[in-house]
Formats: sequence, C-alpha cells, structure tokens
Amino acid sequence: MNIEVAEKRRGVLIGGSGLIGGALMHYFKTKTPDVEVLSPNSKKLSLREPEDIHLYFRRYQPDFIINAAIASIDSDAQLAFEINYLGSLNLARVAIAHKIPYIHFSSAATMPVGENLAEEQLQPLTASMSNYAKSKLMTELTLRHMHETLGLDYTNIRLAVVYGKHDHKIQGFHRLLFSIADQAMPVLLTRRGVKHSYTHSKKIPPFVHHVLNHRAEFSGQTYNFVDREPVELVQLILTIKAYLDLTTPREIFIPYTLARLSRILTKGVLRKMSRVGIEARLPAELMFMENFYESQTLSARKLLRSSYGDPSPQVTVYSRLPALIEYYVTRWEHLNLISNFNGEYYDTKK
Ligand SMILES: NC(=O)c1ccc[n+]([C@@H]2O[C@H](COP(=O)([O-])OP(=O)(O)OC[C@H]3O[C@@H](n4cnc5c(N)ncnc54)[C@H](OP(=O)(O)O)[C@@H]3O)[C@@H](O)[C@H]2O)c1
Repeated sequence: MNIEVAEKRRGVLIGGSGLIGGALMHYFKTKTPDVEVLSPNSKKLSLREPEDIHLYFRRYQPDFIINAAIASIDSDAQLAFEINYLGSLNLARVAIAHKIPYIHFSSAATMPVGENLAEEQLQPLTASMSNYAKSKLMTELTLRHMHETLGLDYTNIRLAVVYGKHDHKIQGFHRLLFSIADQAMPVLLTRRGVKHSYTHSKKIPPFVHHVLNHRAEFSGQTYNFVDREPVELVQLILTIKAYLDLTTPREIFIPYTLARLSRILTKGVLRKMSRVGIEARLPAELMFMENFYESQTLSARKLLRSSYGDPSPQVTVYSRLPALIEYYVTRWEHLNLISNFNGEYYDTKK
C-alpha cells in the first residue's frame, strides 16, 4: 500500500507579535495542518540587521516569507527607512535568491485622499510626507520594480484602518476607541460625511493562505484588502458613544484649522511640562489628523473579482463593535488605563 505524505510547507512571518502578525500566527497555528509558520521575534531576527535575515534563512530554508513588521508609526526617518524600507527589500532579495514568494503588507497611507481608490492610485512621493507613509510608498514602488526587473514573486496586500482584538499597542482604530472610552474626546475632530475604509484583522490570514496557494493569479499584484462598504467616521464615533452610554464626545464639530491650532498649542504645553519632569505625549495618530477631515475610501473591486471569496462579508466594524468594546474595555480596566469609565453601564470586575 502506498501512503502519500503531503509535504508540509514552512513559512517565516516577521512581525508575529503585532496586531496583523498575531492574527496570522494564530491562524497558521490552528487552521492549517499543511502549513507551518515560524515567527522569530525582533531580538532573534531584526530587520535592521541584514545578517540576521541571511543566517535565519540559511538555517530554516522557508518556502515563503510574510512581512507584517513595522517601526512605530511616529519613528524618525532613519528607523522608518531601515525597518520599513530596507528591511522589506532585504526580505525581497532573499525571496528572489531562494525563489520563494514574498507577501508584503502595505497601507492606505501610500494613497491620496479620495473615494473608491483603485490599487494603482498612489500619491506622489514627496519630502513632506510622514516617515511612515514615505517608507511604505517607497517600498511599494521598489517591490514593483524588483518584480519587473528581477522576477520577484510577491503580493502586496494594502490594508485600511484595521480593527480586531489583541492590539496591545492601542493604535489606529483602537486609539479612537480608547479616547472615547476614556472620555478624552470632548468634541468631534471631524466633519460630517467623512468616510474611510476598514479592514478586519481576522479576515487577513485566510486571504494570505489563499494567495500563497494561488501564485499564478496573485504574483506581482497589489490588492486593497478592505471591507466592501466604507464607514462614516462621525457615525462610528457616535455609535461607540451610544454603546458605552457616555455623554461625550458632544456633537460639536471642530473645524480643521482650529483642531490644528490646538494640536500645535498642546504640543507646546507638553514640551514645557517635560522641563519640569512631567512626561506626556500626544497620541501618534494625531499626525494623521488631516485624515479625520478627508474621506479616503479604497475600492474592493479587484478583490471581489479575484478567486478569493470572503467567507463572512456580513462581518464589519459595526457588527464587531460589541465584542471589541467588551474585549478592550475589560483589558484597559485591568491595566488601569481607563480612569473615569462609566461603571454603571459596564463593570468589568463583576
Ligand atoms: N494596524 C493598522 O491599522 C494598519 C493599517 C494599515 C496597514 N497596516 C500595516 O500592517 C502591517 C502590520 O502592522 P501592525 O499594526 O500589525 O503593527 P504592530 O502591531 O505595530 O506590530 C509591529 C511588529 O513589527 C515588529 N518589528 C518592529 N521592529 C522590528 C524589527 N527591527 N525587526 C523585526 N520586527 C520588527 C514588532 O516586533 P517586536 O514587538 O518584537 O519589536 C511587531 O511584531 C504593517 O505593514 C502596517 O503598515 C496596519
């Protein structure tokens, strides 16, 4: 009797302790007996150390690479360049040398503002962009060049505002949720009608698995990986407020010029406070404050036309809100991060 033993594929995931990387790690650990994923932490394999990358790949000979690593969004130019740009390129070079696929994560920060943006609509590369956006855009452009000139087999998965559990750094959407739950948002820093696209972290891993299994279709391609319908920011904020039964933020819309002025003034006050030993920082997300006032929605058309079918299109940021609120409020209370939460509405200690 002949027993065929299917060979298990082994991949390497960089950034496995992060929000997206954690979701990928969990998926490949529990759902894919045909695929094993190794995830060295940044102490073992730092993207800032090309030698780390070479040693690791020589030792483990993986069949694919997934890069979900990123420097903090408010990093300086050097760190963003070394981790986000050079790190990604060094991984891509290894992928070319070993003739294996490279799955890269990028961001809507590479795109202009506007509605229903298709994959090819990138913003021009300029010096005034944030270090994060610049490094992500430069990486996208160089990966495409490496595909065209060196035969890199890669897929670029562009994410919008990501929501999901286990964001231990409290970034992006979860920072917004935190500010509302902590009642640190007295008024609305947005305009009516401003919409954005959202991505559910849990939907990403099955797509990556599919992309790895269908290289002919997905190689050399970029996909906007977003929920089908964009979401109006003010509606989302007011829904969170209603779920938490809070009185703030009040329905007062602060114009952008005033919001910008307050950000500058607050920065000045915080700088002065640091001189007397009080350390406080504005959330890094405030550097994207312009985006609270401008719509940016990504077209999901190419994704919907691909061979991948979202198994749960009904799951959106709205349908996930109750579970996310329960998870994060419980976590933040345990960590004593929320000081004045409305305990009558929801007491995590009961
Ligand atoms: N979260 C969002 O809303 C969002 C939106 C759009 C796009 N994206 C994209 O999605 C990807 C993942 O983002 P995320 O939100 O999951 O990030 P994250 O939660 O901040 O995680 C970042 C990961 O990168 C690792 N890392 C940092 N420096 C490293 C280095 N020098 N070498 C190796 N690993 C290093 C960290 O590992 P250590 O903890 O060990 O340092 C961590 O695992 C990024 O490409 C990002 O641009 C995210």
